[in-house]
Amino acid sequence: MLVLGIETSCDETGIALFDTQEGLLSHALHSQIAMHNEYGGVVPELASRDHIRRILPLIQQTLFSANRSLNQINAIAYTQGPGLAGALLVGASVGSALSYALNIPAIGIHHLEGHLLSPLLSTPAPTFPFVALLVSGGHTQLMRVNSIGQYELLGETVDDAAGEAFDKTAKLLGLGYPGGAALSKLAQQGQSGRFKLPRPMLNSGNLNFSFSGLKTAVLTLTNKHQSTPQTLADIALAFQEAIVEVLIEKSLSALSQTNLKQLVVAGGVGANDQLRKKLSLKANKAGITVFYPELEFCTDNGAMIALAGALRLQAEHNNKLSQPTRSFTVRPRWNLAELTFTHDR
Ligand code: KG4
Ligand code: ZN
Repeated sequence: MLVLGIETSCDETGIALFDTQEGLLSHALHSQIAMHNEYGGVVPELASRDHIRRILPLIQQTLFSANRSLNQINAIAYTQGPGLAGALLVGASVGSALSYALNIPAIGIHHLEGHLLSPLLSTPAPTFPFVALLVSGGHTQLMRVNSIGQYELLGETVDDAAGEAFDKTAKLLGLGYPGGAALSKLAQQGQSGRFKLPRPMLNSGNLNFSFSGLKTAVLTLTNKHQSTPQTLADIALAFQEAIVEVLIEKSLSALSQTNLKQLVVAGGVGANDQLRKKLSLKANKAGITVFYPELEFCTDNGAMIALAGALRLQAEHNNKLSQPTRSFTVRPRWNLAELTFTHDR
């Protein structure tokens, strides 16, 4: 089965072709980061308009690189939510129109389901059940993943997401948007131990997180010290160390509470070098295997949506999904734990 994946939930247009026999055949991405950078964040209307401009050429490019044609596609998977309503509508309407025109099914995918299944694009892949740490720009959650569509929320942030905390702190340090990768690069020049920031909710006794206080702590530091390049790097490192320690400790607690031995780290913050290094070290000692998506599949992409669509369609092959789409909705707000095995939305 050949599935076309379409991701347009935020500021990246991602397209991919996934074949259930041959795996990922091709994928293409256009990032709008440069466009939004001058506004210091994503401008939703500009995002939607840019998706409209990019989506069809990217679909053509993806088909061309895989040496496939439109009429070889068996199903379409598009991101249905959560995300920006206007941006989601572009992918949902193109996906649904293609479904209708080609007389093939279309399936709306939860963006975070795409992220948490993304390590299945690599080998070795985790096997169900596993714990997933979802750390993106909008979400920070620990989930128990029992099988496709069976996700149990173990804990989540009570305020800012980890990526959001990286982005807001990066802004305070005078870095561009989104600032996670830039902050992490700056932290490489930092001296460990000069500043120590709090580890929010480390001993809260549950698996929830809170990151909004960290940016205030960073603000206090930047007000107190002259912003020399070295001081900014030292603050960046102190911030990163705090966030990384909390993410690691809570993930290990989730594993011991669920008695599972596999951890999947997904979402943009999963690209963080220090998180990867420290987590792998600690997990190894605890007999835990950590699975990361390839770096290019950590941030938003079409491949994870095509994969999630293919897995769902395979699992639900004999239900109403075999019909082409005649109508569609997007779900800008959508709780992952509401997903079920049977495609009933
Ligand atoms: O998953 P993603 O691409 O988009 C959402 O679905 O939100 O995640 C984007 C987030 C941004 O907040 C970005 O700053 C962060 O991931 N990010 C990083 C790194 N690369 C991206 N944060 C920390 N370190 C990185 N290397
Ligand atoms: Zn994402």
